[in-house]
Amino acid sequence: MKTVQVKDRSFALLLTAERIRKRVSELALEINKDMEGKNPLFLVMLNGAFMFAADLLKEINVPCEISFIKYDSYRGTKSSGRLNKLIGLKESLRNRCVIVLEDVVDSGLTMSRLFEELKTKKPAELYLATCIFKPEALKSEVKPDYVGFNLPDVFLVGYGLDYEGYGRNLEAIYELKSR
Ligand code: IMP
Ligand code: MG
Repeated sequence: MKTVQVKDRSFALLLTAERIRKRVSELALEINKDMEGKNPLFLVMLNGAFMFAADLLKEINVPCEISFIKYDSYRGTKSSGRLNKLIGLKESLRNRCVIVLEDVVDSGLTMSRLFEELKTKKPAELYLATCIFKPEALKSEVKPDYVGFNLPDVFLVGYGLDYEGYGRNLEAIYELKSR
């Protein structure tokens, strides 16, 4: 399908499911090589990374643990602003090799905040693997260690990415059409 409608917007096909599968396999190969003997803990950032993580992790063949984390959507009062809290992390990170799996690094603010928080838990090594990186949109110091695709600053849906909650289930990645 070359075009999809998600809610009130049209999106054009950008990366086919096959192209994504191939690239995710390449990333898995690279990670398998780098993580040999390291017993990594993968932290999957919900919701967006669920599909990327499922495909990637099926091809990881080093012993590893997998856990799921998320910033809850609780919002404080107007005066306290947004106070999202990291939830889901039960494992100790101390002296572990930790790899965060993310769908997309856009401004990088989410990942820079997460990394600050994770570093206080004293992991031995901390890496970031993202399906998509938008270097032009970056507003922080985040530098992903593993990148599926470098893309321009366009709004995307599919393969875990949503537009107002919809479109995450699409197996390909689509970009917003200008109206
Ligand atoms: P950040 O700007 O790097 O902090 O990105 C935060 C989050 O915004 C990502 O984890 C995604 O959930 C979401 N996001 C960023 N770019 C897109 C996009 O193109 N489509 C859908 N969601 C996006
Ligand atoms: Mg996300």
